[in-house]
Order: sequence, then C-alpha cells, then structure tokens
Amino acid sequence: MSLGPEPTNTLLWLLSEAQQGLWRLLGALGVTDTVHGQPAWPFAHRLAAEQLLFDPGQVKRLWWLGAVALALLVFAAVGLCWRRARWPLVGLGGWLLATLPWPEWQLLRVPTPPTAFHRPDHPFEAGAIVRGQALYQTQCQRCHGDDGRGEGPDAARLAMWPPTLNGSLLWKRLDGELFWRVRHGMLDRQGQATMPGTGDRWSDAQVWDVLAFVRAQAAGQTLRATGAWVFPVPVPDATVSCRGTPRALSSLRGQRLHLVAAGGPFPAADPRLLTVSVGAASADADCQAGSPELAQALATVLGVGREALPGHQLLADRDGWLRVRGQPGAAAWSEDDLVCRTAALKPASDASAADGLEALIRRMDAEPVRDTRGGFPH
Ligand code: HEC
Repeated sequence: MSLGPEPTNTLLWLLSEAQQGLWRLLGALGVTDTVHGQPAWPFAHRLAAEQLLFDPGQVKRLWWLGAVALALLVFAAVGLCWRRARWPLVGLGGWLLATLPWPEWQLLRVPTPPTAFHRPDHPFEAGAIVRGQALYQTQCQRCHGDDGRGEGPDAARLAMWPPTLNGSLLWKRLDGELFWRVRHGMLDRQGQATMPGTGDRWSDAQVWDVLAFVRAQAAGQTLRATGAWVFPVPVPDATVSCRGTPRALSSLRGQRLHLVAAGGPFPAADPRLLTVSVGAASADADCQAGSPELAQALATVLGVGREALPGHQLLADRDGWLRVRGQPGAAAWSEDDLVCRTAALKPASDASAADGLEALIRRMDAEPVRDTRGGFPH
C-alpha cells in the first residue's frame, strides 16, 4: 500500500499535482470542452506513474530534466542582468541540453480518455455501493460474474475473457478512466467491441455507483481469498445519529471508529474509540447507523453475505481507513486482525502494549495508509 522510495514519491506527487493543476487551469480558462459535467482532459495521453515506480532510470532522467530546466531559468535571469555573461551562458545552456539524458516519453505516457481526472461527487458512499450492487446484477454480472472474477454465464461466448475486477486492475486506472470505459465501452486493437458501454441508458451518477460497488466487491473478495486487503478500503460514508444529532460518518475523521454490527454482545465502551452500532440501535454506542445501507456495504467489503454480518467488528484509523476486522465470536483482539497493512509490515508485536487492542491502535497510528490510482497518490 505504500508508493515506493521517498524521492520517487515526491516526484510522483509533483507530477500528479502538475498534471491535475494543468487540467483545472485549462478548465477554469474555458479552453477545454465539458464532458459528463466536468472539464475534459484535452490530451490523448497522461503520464504513466506506474512506469516511474518500476523504472529508476527514468526517474533519474526526470530529475535531471527538472534540474536543467531550473538551471536554464537561472542562466536567463543572470544573462538579463549581466551582459558579458550572456554568450558563455548560452553556450553552457546549449551544452547542458545537448548532453542531457532525456526521458523516454513514449515509455512515460499511457492513453487516457477525456474524463481522466473526473471524480464522483460522493465517493464510496454506502448508498452508492448498495445502488451499484443492484445495477451490477442487472448489467455486469452476466460477464463479470457473481463475485467479479470474470466467470459470468456469458463470459465463455465472448471474443475476450472478461478480466477479474478483484485484482490490481481497478487501482492501476484513474477513477475517470474506469468511468469512461464503463460508460462508453471498450474496443480491441482491431476496433471490435470487447465490452459494451452503458451508453445513455445510465446516468453518470449510476456509472459512479456501479464503480463504488465494484471497488467494494474487490475488497471483499480479496479479503475472502487472502485474509487481508491488498488495497486500502475507506469507511463507506453514511448518515449516523450521534447522541441524537445526525451527521455523516466522514465528518468523524480524526477519531478512531469502532463499527459494531449488531448481533453479538455489545463491546464495553473504550475511551480510545468512538463506537458506531450498525444494523440495530444499541444504547451503549456513541453513534447509531439507522439506514440498512451501511450494514450492506460493510458486508460487501468484508466479502460476506448480509446475513453473516452480525457479530463482525471493524476498526477505522483517524484518516478514515478501515484497518482491523474482528470476526464473530473472537474472544479478544490480536494483531492478526489487522487486515489492512502497510507494505512496511513490522512482524514484531509490540511487547509493551498492554493488550491486543492497544497493539493494534499503535500500529494503525504509526503506519498510515496511502492510496494510489494509476500509480499516483490519491
Ligand atoms: C458482454 C460482456 C460484458 C459486460 C456486460 C460488461 N463487461 Fe466489463 N469487460 C468485459 C470484457 C471482455 C472486458 C475486457 C475488455 C478489454 O480489455 O478490451 C471488460 C473490462 C472491464 C473493466 C476493466 C476496464 C479497464 O480499464 O481495463 C471494468 C472496470 C469493467 N469491465 C466493468 C464492467 C461493469 C461495471 C459492467 C456493467 C455496467 C460491465 N463491465 C459489463 C465484458 C463485459
């Protein structure tokens, strides 16, 4: 879940900001068209961040390019003020440009659609996941299968087998790239349709909803198959009632959440956690999730049916990422419950921690999660 070595992270962050900044600027200036309610990305490519993660040679070349660009700016400034240095500086600048190891741009770009940098209005809402599930069942399941692994009843008849939606594929793409492909469909190299798009039969909001579900389903299926989430899973957003006041779960960021699916005995209050009862009200909880949607969404990210949810517990860190899963009937917390781990997994358990929960909390606080899309920080 971590990005890569530090200098590469900084470079990716800079490039990502520059790319999105350019998109916003062009949109604000009104020089780009509007597609699906947001400004279009006017180019046929974007930078391929993933390539940079695996290609330190190109990373070095980009840093060199940045350094030379900076040097040329300094030369220009000096040359403006100091006449006699002008020609030597022009010579030096020319020599730098001639000897510079230029990045190989054809390696560093990938084709991308005009919606590349679009994002949904309400990302990862429980309601969107539940609505998306119903849409998936009517339109996608026949090819992508009940569980997203690509083994739907129609899959064998297709010219191309549908990919599993539960692997790294969804994280390799930007959200707006998935949006475009689901909305407009996909073609192979010969121009033959491989996947039908939803076209105008669905609203943009419905496409975002199905993508929220597909991501939640990928989390659940990965957890089932491997016992851990490979990619970070945010707390699905929903309206809860905290001591009589309705508020969004996302507004509780900054606190560690303890989500308890009703069914088992309600755990004792703990000052380190804010408890949220899911599925049924509990007088002992700090907040209650009234709507059934949060329960359904949590069942999806856990990879269990709604009927199997009771008794599950989840801990979320202060940044709003789900980190720890407690299974029904488990007597106490242990470090094995940490299902969202960072790449820098520290095997040694913290012997000084008073109890399993304390050890988990220390790990969550000490190892923050970073999400990526298409290799860029998200
Ligand atoms: C007729 C079968 C079929 C249907 C229906 C279908 N898909 Fe696909 N899907 C495919 C195939 C085949 C591919 C691989 C296409 C390719 O790589 O050219 C694919 C690829 C994808 C991808 C990967 C895109 C990428 O960036 O590589 C996503 C995401 C996806 N489908 C989601 C959906 C969703 C959501 C629905 C329902 C709205 C859906 N699909 C409906 C067959 C289908």
